[in-house]
Amino acid sequence: MTKTQVAVIGAGGIAGAHLRAYATHAERCQIVGIADIDEAAAVSRAEEFGGSAFSDGVTMLEQLEPGAVSICTPPKFRLPFVEAAAARGIAVLCEKPPARTLAETEAIVNAMRGQLLQFAFCHRFHAPLLAAINLIRSGKLGMLAQIENRFAFRFARAGNSWFTDADIAGGGILIDTLVHSIDIFRALSGDEIEAAQAVLSTTLPIEVEDSASLLARSNAGVLGTLNCSWVTPVGEAFVRIHGTEGQAVIDYNAAAGLRYKLADDADWTEEHFDEPDRFVRQASHFLDCVEGKCEPRVGGEDGLAVMRVIEAAYESAGVRR
Ligand SMILES: NC(=O)c1ccc[n+]([C@@H]2O[C@H](COP(=O)([O-])OP(=O)(O)OC[C@H]3O[C@@H](n4cnc5c(N)ncnc54)[C@H](O)[C@@H]3O)[C@@H](O)[C@H]2O)c1
Repeated sequence: MTKTQVAVIGAGGIAGAHLRAYATHAERCQIVGIADIDEAAAVSRAEEFGGSAFSDGVTMLEQLEPGAVSICTPPKFRLPFVEAAAARGIAVLCEKPPARTLAETEAIVNAMRGQLLQFAFCHRFHAPLLAAINLIRSGKLGMLAQIENRFAFRFARAGNSWFTDADIAGGGILIDTLVHSIDIFRALSGDEIEAAQAVLSTTLPIEVEDSASLLARSNAGVLGTLNCSWVTPVGEAFVRIHGTEGQAVIDYNAAAGLRYKLADDADWTEEHFDEPDRFVRQASHFLDCVEGKCEPRVGGEDGLAVMRVIEAAYESAGVRR
């Protein structure tokens, strides 16, 4: 089998996860190039993972013409790379949030129309979340009523990086982190969000929100209470799923990644997982798509759907964009 040649644009934090994931799949892909405007960052990653280092992502795509590229830059800078990839038939795995705005997301999706585009909503590859989807679809939890989620931690880069520059990031924690929560809600409910009401607050001396709460309702009437914060040091990462016949909890910090309790159960049933992490599984799925085995689990339409909710959420919170 011919190995897929992969490149990565942006050599920062999340690029490390993409590169490690591709390296895990060395039998089916080869890292050929890494680009970053900070050339030293690209060189350092290339020394660790192989491939050539570039200071410009478009030049890299022109020179190497890889089969696939991960775009891991901050949101503001992605579109030219997507367009360059689209012009050369290069498959794209684009980091989240899909873009700063719905309009920018449309530009990305339109540029890639008819070509392979996957958005890196990595939780779709978190084994306990997939098990929870199976549990819901099995009917054991009854009808889905509510989904609660909280992703919270103290974010060291708030106030001293592009993450809190609205022009580069598109907003604060709502678009950066709660965007995952929206995608998770859609994946679990198997439905679209028809109503979204957000409240935001800013505790730090920054220009964007550092805590966000979103109330959501799906077309079928499932309610979501989604909460994220960058300013609460006791970290939490969980999703609680409440159905008419039981409850399930995805706890990212617990030994049992998923536990559930049905109406007549005395105790919780725990499920443990030893699968590779979600980034490794995400890369594996992307490579499957490149090899023509399947369609992306999280494609352009998913990116657009999530960004429609983000726009509605900012609008409901009175944020002008
Ligand atoms: N899926 C996840 O769970 C997850 C986790 C962390 C970050 N992310 C997302 O990944 C993206 C990047 O986050 P990060 O933590 O890696 O940020 P980072 O600041 O650590 O890295 C970004 C890198 O992009 C480079 N860069 C900026 N402009 C560029 C350009 N025009 N061309 C080439 N390189 C450029 C920077 O020099 C930097 O090295 C963000 O959108 C973030 O939300 C996703």
